[in-house]
Amino acid sequence: MTDTPLNIPLEKIPQHVAMIMDGNGRWALQRGLPRLAGHKAGTENLRRVIRASVEFGIKYLTIYAFSTENWGRPPEEVRGLMFILQDVIDKELDELNSEGVQLRHIGRLERLDPRIQKKVLHAIDLTKNNDRLVVNVAFNYGGRDEIVCAIQKIIADGIAPEDVTDELVNKYLFTAGVPDPDLIIRTSGELRVSNFLIWQAAYSEWYITPTFWPDFDKEEYRRAIEAFANRDRRFGKVSAGELQETNA
Ligand code: IPE
Ligand code: IPE
Ligand code: MG
Repeated sequence: MTDTPLNIPLEKIPQHVAMIMDGNGRWALQRGLPRLAGHKAGTENLRRVIRASVEFGIKYLTIYAFSTENWGRPPEEVRGLMFILQDVIDKELDELNSEGVQLRHIGRLERLDPRIQKKVLHAIDLTKNNDRLVVNVAFNYGGRDEIVCAIQKIIADGIAPEDVTDELVNKYLFTAGVPDPDLIIRTSGELRVSNFLIWQAAYSEWYITPTFWPDFDKEEYRRAIEAFANRDRRFGKVSAGELQETNA
């Protein structure tokens, strides 16, 4: 692993990177280990990825840790994932706080065990003034659920139909105040969105790698960011370079 800084201009570094941390189960299976061992290895890797994000100058990192559909897994695995969330908070919170990481949560917190809710709320409160890196933890998160929740609140607030705009919807999402992800990374090679940030990903760039999440290291993260820096983001328009040529 080399430790050279990113070899790209500052303005090409994505402000917000989102990650679908997938492939823990298959990583474990390959080694003849139980799935939960894969989730543990995945959690270790998350710690490295958070540190690398700080080093790379990423401002927002959103990580998909537990989807609204993941409740459908065997109860033992669900229990294990709930335990891991608490364990990570217990073991990592102080260090993350001292490194300037602000922790936030997206998803339905109220549907989690009250003890977990308490820990998550404490972590959010403790780190709320940190500004080096914002880490949004998507836990019990579903993109459709988020949109349903936003619609419910918009109606409950008595908003008139003509006042419902893109900007207003943004304010009612779990991600209110967070810029849309510039880059979404999915590990383990699956070519699907799996209910992740389906509103916010309208113009995100995707990077999909066959690497399983526990093996997604800093070098590959760097490659993902460098690939992003070389993309031509047109947002439905014509690329700036091409326009200049036409006008010349
Ligand atoms: C991602 O790994 C972690 C969660 C969804 C919680 P998986 O558990 O989905 O791993 P695979 O896809 O079965 O390999
Ligand atoms: C997406 O992975 C959810 C998380 C990484 C938390 P899944 O493994 O649940 O997605 P599918 O089932 O392959 O679409
Ligand atoms: Mg999976």
